[in-house]
Amino acid sequence: MRMRKKKHGEERILACAELLISDPTVLKDDPRIPFSDKEKELCLEIGCGKGNFAVGMAEKNPDCNFIAMERVRDVCCIALEKAMACKETRPDNLRFIIGDADNLDEWFPEGSVDRLYLNFSDPWPKAGHAKRRLTHRNYLARYKRMLKEGGLLIFKTDNVGLFDFSLEEFAEFGLEILWQTRDLHNSERAEGNVMTEYEKNFSEKGFTINSAIVRF
Ligand SMILES: C[S@@+](CC[C@H](N)C(=O)[O-])C[C@H]1O[C@@H](n2cnc3c(N)ncnc32)[C@H](O)[C@@H]1O
Repeated sequence: MRMRKKKHGEERILACAELLISDPTVLKDDPRIPFSDKEKELCLEIGCGKGNFAVGMAEKNPDCNFIAMERVRDVCCIALEKAMACKETRPDNLRFIIGDADNLDEWFPEGSVDRLYLNFSDPWPKAGHAKRRLTHRNYLARYKRMLKEGGLLIFKTDNVGLFDFSLEEFAEFGLEILWQTRDLHNSERAEGNVMTEYEKNFSEKGFTINSAIVRF
């Protein structure tokens, strides 16, 4: 996600400090440290963009703790501000990391995450860029280490090329595809679906949404 540099970006991020995990290496000891209720399931979204999904999911699922990760500071700033504004009391089950999925191994202990969400990940359409796709087997190997045994990856994308590639990667990596659809909004999982910014935009333009749930 490209974005013009935000005015006063750093001050705005600082104003949301209570929701930001500024040093994600602290998670390596215990990824539940940022949360008051440490018994809840831990969910991670990678590439949260402007935060609609993370904020909506945290509100709808008070029994889960959510960490939303975004590598572009100015984009994460918008997500942080959305979370700060979402209700009088700040969500106590949602925290953000400004950082890259390439660092997952340094931040999350083995078998620590229950569910991983990838929403409208960058498709990197050129064959030479396949390794950058967040569903490439190199990333799946990182997720396998970080997720609990039987942990779920829940994936949504408008991009048919990325979806086909991802299904092949899941199968070749030996993962069980529990559910898939080429039209999420007309499926049995439409109810309760929390839309992302990209999802809203693409579906308003008439694109159908592909989705898969995969067990590790
Ligand atoms: C196409 S946007 C989708 C944003 C949001 N998930 C949505 O559906 O509206 C993809 C986002 O993932 C972020 N991203 C891409 N690769 C990433 C990585 N390796 N680590 C963290 N964030 C990443 C990008 O900066 C961008 O904001």
